[in-house]
Amino acid sequence: AQRKQIDKVLALFRLTQEQLVGIRNKMQVEFEYGLKKDTHPLATVKMLPTYVCGMPDGTEKGKFLALDLGGTNFRVLLVKIRSGRRSVRMYNKIFAIPLEIMQGTGEELFDHIVQCIADFLDYMGLKGAQLPLGFTFSFPCRQTSIDKGTLIEWTKGFKATDCEGEDVVDMLREAIKRRNEFDLDIVAVVNDTVGTMMTCGYEDRNCEVGLIAGTGSNMCYMEEMRNIELVEGDEGKMCINTEWGGFGDNGCLDDIQTQYDKEVDEGSLNPGKQRYEKMTSGMYLGEIVRQILIDLTKQGLLFRGQISERLRTRGIFETKFLSQIESDRLALLQVRRILQQLGLDSTCEDSIVVKEVCGAVSRRAAQLYGAGLAAIVEKRREDQGLEHMRITVGVDGTLYKLHPHFSRILRETVKELAPQCDVMFMLSEDGSGKGAALITAVAKRLQQAQR
Ligand code: BG6
Ligand code: GLC
Repeated sequence: AQRKQIDKVLALFRLTQEQLVGIRNKMQVEFEYGLKKDTHPLATVKMLPTYVCGMPDGTEKGKFLALDLGGTNFRVLLVKIRSGRRSVRMYNKIFAIPLEIMQGTGEELFDHIVQCIADFLDYMGLKGAQLPLGFTFSFPCRQTSIDKGTLIEWTKGFKATDCEGEDVVDMLREAIKRRNEFDLDIVAVVNDTVGTMMTCGYEDRNCEVGLIAGTGSNMCYMEEMRNIELVEGDEGKMCINTEWGGFGDNGCLDDIQTQYDKEVDEGSLNPGKQRYEKMTSGMYLGEIVRQILIDLTKQGLLFRGQISERLRTRGIFETKFLSQIESDRLALLQVRRILQQLGLDSTCEDSIVVKEVCGAVSRRAAQLYGAGLAAIVEKRREDQGLEHMRITVGVDGTLYKLHPHFSRILRETVKELAPQCDVMFMLSEDGSGKGAALITAVAKRLQQAQR
């Protein structure tokens, strides 16, 4: 009887082929809404123009600073690009962003960022250097040019005040001015998906999609200019940051949302928003697992029916723990040990159930990603009127990199849902900072050509 109760919960996370096809189709509809000038009242996938119009061609060169904010780590980088041989050298330093800064005031956040830049310049012996800077800022921004980006709303774990509706490049410039110690030329603001696509595009010119499966969930791709109503001109292509994390915010995923998803949403910093992201990305998967475990414990099916203080604590199941628990090389005893490390006292049976729960949640996430990705590659194929299409997807993010099954299930799902597309996945080894520097290099070259 216990088994039945557990299976009933796990079944909520199983998606049929038909459901997945439905999700792919709904995502395609959202892409179309988002590209229109008059925003459809139900449009939730933002489809933001990025003003990035081409891939680097290998002639880029120079020394650039890059900032990389919004993922697991905040980084400051120095990127040296040599033309011709396509060689890039990078030096970077990771800095912490304390929670009180992430959720303090905008001024504090940007002062902190500038403090980190100052430390980095000091560390590199570059004090006083005047370098062009590319800013990877992994949040939804409305752009009107490559060096302007108004933050639409915070996502993930950020909630600094007085930033939404403001241009983050201006905010950074002002913070640099306040410090009055160095001058930097901020040339480009770039989403992490775009940086990832560029990083991979430097190696493979067929890379026209950037995918992040990390703290957050998002995708960008190269769209024909003539399909982008918001931007004038019909020639060539421009990269669109889809912000697909907001998919479902109009209720179109309600039929697959479970009570656990609702609980995670309600306990988040942005209730009602980013529903697809909350079913798929690293920041939330562990939370879904925790909600299920609480429920199973309440039903007396786990942890001897005792809900410990630990289990009540938000955020205990980070992506890396989920990934460890689901690793097939791990004996159950080791799963128990991980749970113990997390402060959860479990029996052998408990650890089997926990592993099953993690599996169900991450499998659904990978399938949902697959449906989204199938939507974009199919759209691109249809738009170009091709029978068959080859495309490379640049990918980054801790979930994709650390999880033992996620990438395989994602690939399998795309294959099933977009059988006429040959999708190659290319792992970004260098992060979005490198891509941001490449974009900065291109923008700088164009700037100089205009003068
Ligand atoms: C990194 C990028 O490589 O991937 C980050 O440089 C990005 O900016 C990240 O946000 C996504 O992964 P995660 O898991 O750190 O959110
Ligand atoms: C969130 C952000 C998005 C970013 C993604 C991955 O969804 O809104 O801009 O690309 O996380 O980091």
